[in-house]
Amino acid sequence: MGNIVVVGSINMDFVCYIRKLPHPGETVQSYKTDTKSGGKGANQAVAAALSGGNVTLVGAVGNDFYSRDILFAIKKYKVNTDRVLWKDSDIGTAFVVVDESGQNNVFLSEGANGCLTVKDLQGLPELFDSTSILLVQNEIPWACTRYALETAKQRGAQTYFNPAPALEIEEDVFPLVDVMILNKSEAEFITSIRLEEDLSNVRQAARQIIDLGVKEVIITLGEKGSLYMNGQEEVVFTSAYPVHVVDTTAAGDTFIGSFIAARQQGMTIKDALQRASAASAIAVSRAGAQESIPNTEEVINFLNEHSRSRGTLAVY
Ligand code: RIB
Repeated sequence: MGNIVVVGSINMDFVCYIRKLPHPGETVQSYKTDTKSGGKGANQAVAAALSGGNVTLVGAVGNDFYSRDILFAIKKYKVNTDRVLWKDSDIGTAFVVVDESGQNNVFLSEGANGCLTVKDLQGLPELFDSTSILLVQNEIPWACTRYALETAKQRGAQTYFNPAPALEIEEDVFPLVDVMILNKSEAEFITSIRLEEDLSNVRQAARQIIDLGVKEVIITLGEKGSLYMNGQEEVVFTSAYPVHVVDTTAAGDTFIGSFIAARQQGMTIKDALQRASAASAIAVSRAGAQESIPNTEEVINFLNEHSRSRGTLAVY
């Protein structure tokens, strides 16, 4: 099976569990705090590996004691971390606040992620030669993300882009992207369309992203499911599985890694979407980022246990 290369962030997540988000100027007590291994790049790499992908992570850690622990944690999931660089910096950090509904707010400090350079990536030509799928996000310097997309595309790899957190993207980047996977607020940022609660205009937003030059797009909509669209006007809506939400951190990352691995294994778009939807349902029912991500066996068991009327697919 080909190599899935993730060029992205590695973070230590400092997680604070509270009942309710404070108002400006208010102080609230957390009922639990924790440190967890995270970062969108690392989370998505772990999700793809746990779904059976052969995954290499390219990124940067620092010279602090967290960095060694985090790499150790990521390796446990059978992600190849040989291409992770050690920088004279602190590890990237995310301050994650989770309220009792499981919703989160994340504050990032880029740390070593911000030290990754295009020169570092230029030093890995053989890696790009062997890449069949490239996956990038928006938590490393933009020049690196852009270089990775351009290089992978030139070498014939399939490119996946999760533009999170939302940033301005130059127009000529969209045609470099085969599959864009993004959430509601990122889709609103890119299209300037405010998505209605009843989702009546999600297709319009997806169409606009396709018109920018992306071949396939998936807009994830939390408990409302996800919408897939491609340039041939095929649309697949997948509803979400109703589960007790504990922590939504890395739900999107789980969806993305699981979808990519399923597609690489030859599953149809509909089946891969159902797998991804089930995997992210399991992830939100558990605390943490990488620790919450299920493996294939857990996802298959979940699908067997849950009624077929959930996570259903509608094809338009
Ligand atoms: O997507 C979740 C991740 O976003 C967290 O693990 C945190 O590190 C931030 O990068």
